[in-house]
Amino acid sequence: MKNLKLIGPFTQILPMTGLSVKGALQDGQLTVIDNGGILVSEGKIIKVGSFEDLISDTVTIERIEGEQVCLPGFVDAHTHICFGGNRANDYAMRNGGRSYLEIAKAGGGIWDTVTHTRKASQDKLVNGIVQRCQKHLGNGVTTLEVKSGYGLSVTQELKMLRAIKKGNDTVVQDLIPTCLAAHMKPKDWAGTPTAYLEHIANDLFPILHKENLTQRIDAFIEESAFSKEGIRPYFENAKQNGFDITVHADQFTTGGSQLAIEFNALSADHLEASTSKEIMALAKSNVVAVALPGASLGLGCNFAPARQLLDAGAALAIASDHNPGSAPMGDLLTQACVLGSFEKLTNIEVLAGITFRAAKALNLGDRGNLEGGKLADFICFPTGNYQEITYHQGQLKPGKVWKNGVKVGDG
Ligand code: NIG
Ligand code: FE
Repeated sequence: MKNLKLIGPFTQILPMTGLSVKGALQDGQLTVIDNGGILVSEGKIIKVGSFEDLISDTVTIERIEGEQVCLPGFVDAHTHICFGGNRANDYAMRNGGRSYLEIAKAGGGIWDTVTHTRKASQDKLVNGIVQRCQKHLGNGVTTLEVKSGYGLSVTQELKMLRAIKKGNDTVVQDLIPTCLAAHMKPKDWAGTPTAYLEHIANDLFPILHKENLTQRIDAFIEESAFSKEGIRPYFENAKQNGFDITVHADQFTTGGSQLAIEFNALSADHLEASTSKEIMALAKSNVVAVALPGASLGLGCNFAPARQLLDAGAALAIASDHNPGSAPMGDLLTQACVLGSFEKLTNIEVLAGITFRAAKALNLGDRGNLEGGKLADFICFPTGNYQEITYHQGQLKPGKVWKNGVKVGDG
């Protein structure tokens, strides 16, 4: 085997292996490897085990000093980090007591970001992605999903998705692009929502395939965006053309998660409004439920019912929803820890939600835990006790980050 490298010793390695994708998890189920090492070659993990046992004449050693807890690199399965402008004024108005509708009428909301994103050049959008990814890297995120959805025309959505592709070539992380042209009906579209969706499906979908820009289609199902009935032909078209589906579902009103299940979507994201009916249905399905605590914190509203979802047997991932409107913080670990505290999630449920369960939401089988054959994406925190990671609620930062076996961050 070429270029065998042994990285360690880590005081503890949490490989996050042998755990169910669905349902509640107890901390007692967590495998902890004491004084562990990770053997890597050509960007992949060969073996994870006792550091001493992995030492041999044929390996070079990358030695780790001091107490360190090692985990899989975090996966942020839902972001909108490609955008122009910011919405500080929306935030101030919201905290001043103005409603979502009033803010939209006053020129804020998603359309404000559409206006600024349309004005921005592709290069400017790439720069924004690069800056935000730098911050996410410092928080241990090695894979991010990134949505379009602030272009809302064929040309402008293409500009965003090309910027995301270029961003992927530029940043350390892997960026997984998603087309969210169905974020809202653009205000400058004179026709019906149905005609807009037909136009996108007919004129944008073929280019997405041709330029290899994305295989994922998302829609915002909400009274202020698209109806369940309205989006059905759009999703049918997407499925026939081989795209995977993901849904902004049950954020303020229910309906979206049911559609996600109907279309066998990879994930249903938000779920703040889900009731026991939606929770039971999600638990029976293979759709990953994605909680977005950053949107609850940004909007000052309730969290998704994460505890109930897990107890019912659902797969729960946690993502940042990093966007300029509802979730400007963009700190996945902090948000996952806060959700864990309010929703009474075990450490392992919090960490599963941002590692292998988040990878499942993106249909990525090659990452999210540490075992032979997986990508050598991992991070370590300067502590000897993994419990301190959630305890410090995101303020304990990973000192070191490896992407494809190469150290890319060293704090
Ligand atoms: O995921 N819910 C709709 N879309 C985004 C918000 C985007 C925005 O307000 O700019 C979300 O929260
Ligand atoms: Fe979102």
